[in-house]
Amino acid sequence: MQSRYKLLQEKKKKWPYIVSGTIAGLLIGAMVVWVGMNGWNIDKSIEKLRNLTEVEQSAEVDQTEEPIIEEPIVEEPIQEIPVEEEPVVEDVDMSGANGYIGNELLPQEPTVVEGQVIASKKYPLPADYAPGESKEARAAFQEMAAEATLSGYELIAFSTYRSFDYQTKLYDRYVSNDGQAAADRYSARPGYSEHQTGLAFDIGEQHFEQHFARESFGETEAGKWVAANAHKYGFIMRYPKGSEKITGYMYEPWHFRYVGKELSGQVYEANETLEEFLDL
Ligand code: DAL
Ligand code: ZN
Repeated sequence: MQSRYKLLQEKKKKWPYIVSGTIAGLLIGAMVVWVGMNGWNIDKSIEKLRNLTEVEQSAEVDQTEEPIIEEPIVEEPIQEIPVEEEPVVEDVDMSGANGYIGNELLPQEPTVVEGQVIASKKYPLPADYAPGESKEARAAFQEMAAEATLSGYELIAFSTYRSFDYQTKLYDRYVSNDGQAAADRYSARPGYSEHQTGLAFDIGEQHFEQHFARESFGETEAGKWVAANAHKYGFIMRYPKGSEKITGYMYEPWHFRYVGKELSGQVYEANETLEEFLDL
């Protein structure tokens, strides 16, 4: 016979097992009841688990990805014209600020002569005149460039339409580099540039940037080809050699103006500047 004390001791030892067993039993019971009530699709659970892992993984990838850096705004290149390459032209009428007639205000409308928008030192454009590059002139240039490739020249138009604001930047830069008197001989003041009409194309030969906006372009085979053929496509050389007194600008064998095939042929045949031909 066990003593009453021993029986009590035995009971005390079993007590923790009884408590934990009861709790486990209750938990299992609760799970069975929950599964019974909600249903359990093992495939769905695995799928959910997989999605969760993928999201975590992609979050990790995102963290290691390069940060998005905004593209810097690349400014339109400004063609420099070195002063040392400028020919010394003695016989230039420098009165009226190198050909400008001194009208301070720009007009409200552009001057149109024989259907041609005129931009010169005498005939400025409104500041807000902004037609963009002429599609007709671009198509004519492409036609000419295609023809030039047959002779082995790959032509490009390195500067065409320039806004009033862009011309302002360009001209100001030239003035600060060379002084106003020199700049006025090769760069138009804002409002006076033919580039603002969208009809002026500065032409060069691809891969020969050393001749871009340089008199030397006129001595290259490509430059000679353009001088001899541009009129067939509607372009005229706007500032020919020796005509600074008339046009107001030094010789620019790269600067061509689109006037259409009819007028370009006539100007070429007459061997005159646009000023002379249209009596501007
Ligand atoms: N270089 C020409 C004259 C212009 O600036 O329009
Ligand atoms: Zn030009």
